[in-house]
Amino acid sequence: MADLIHRPRRLRRNEGIRSLVRETRLSPDNLIMPFFVCPGEGVRREIGSMPGNFNLSIDELVKEVKSVKELGIRSVILFGLPSAKDPVGKDAYAEDGIVQQAIRAIKREVPGVIVIADNCLCEYTDHGHCGVIRDNDVDNDPTLELLSKTAVAQAEAGADIVAPSNMMDGFVRAIRTALGNAGYQQVPIMSYAVKYASGFYGPFREAADSAPQFGDRRSYQMDPANVREALREAELDVDEGADMLMVKPAMPYLDVIRAVRERFNLPLAAYQVSGEFAMIKAAGRLGWIDEPRVMMESLVSIKRAGADMILTYFAQDASRLLA
Ligand code: PBG
Repeated sequence: MADLIHRPRRLRRNEGIRSLVRETRLSPDNLIMPFFVCPGEGVRREIGSMPGNFNLSIDELVKEVKSVKELGIRSVILFGLPSAKDPVGKDAYAEDGIVQQAIRAIKREVPGVIVIADNCLCEYTDHGHCGVIRDNDVDNDPTLELLSKTAVAQAEAGADIVAPSNMMDGFVRAIRTALGNAGYQQVPIMSYAVKYASGFYGPFREAADSAPQFGDRRSYQMDPANVREALREAELDVDEGADMLMVKPAMPYLDVIRAVRERFNLPLAAYQVSGEFAMIKAAGRLGWIDEPRVMMESLVSIKRAGADMILTYFAQDASRLLA
């Protein structure tokens, strides 16, 4: 075998060589840490199915965002738990809504951190759906008006990026127009363009208390079986003025990330959702997998598939390992 010409193992012999030829790298620069903000003071309530993640009051959130910044993470995304819910999700677009207050506090206390505002109504409605209800289903066009108001309230509070996650038809156009009319032409839209109706959102619904009280989200979120439809959704959002696209969840949909990456030139985000996080945490706790190793492997896979940015509850743990 002395004449064997091709020996790929030559480039794997030690970490120096492996590092030289490594194709994909993770960096805290493009990890986005999600936070759940709730009313009160000094509140730091751990989320049962998401160990290490908390419902945080604004004062505690500010502390967390400071520590995240020290780890080199530049961006956070905020979800709100309002003090009261109602059929039309008023707190989402109130000037003093919980997320608007949190954005103002972060902008004031932790300058330099990019604050992304998730734009949806499910955390704010008493029925837990992502819009207003008519005949037992979410009514698309009236919902667009509320989402638009939400985007403007978020921009007014100082959000750097608005990230609509509601999966209504025409949401990017509606929000782009509303932001423009209010003088916020410069605020980018990170569209959850491709969002599947996924069982992997389970822990999030505990964290945000946003489980639908009847039915499910299949009349607006996508069927997990479809990929051509994902390209259609992405194409519409590009046409309507999205600045960045997102695919969600991430690991079960790496083929979709790759397909969207190949077809569109906008920056692409992938959301490693609560259930993906919880599975890795749980198996790690049981000693069934090596948690830090699987965490890094899952993140690098998502990037290798084509994501530029990853929203992940592992942002802090991963950044610590990368330091
Ligand atoms: C709001 C929203 C959800 C998630 C992000 N934005 C929940 C849902 O659609 O039910 C899920 C994130 C996660 O599971 O980590 N619509």
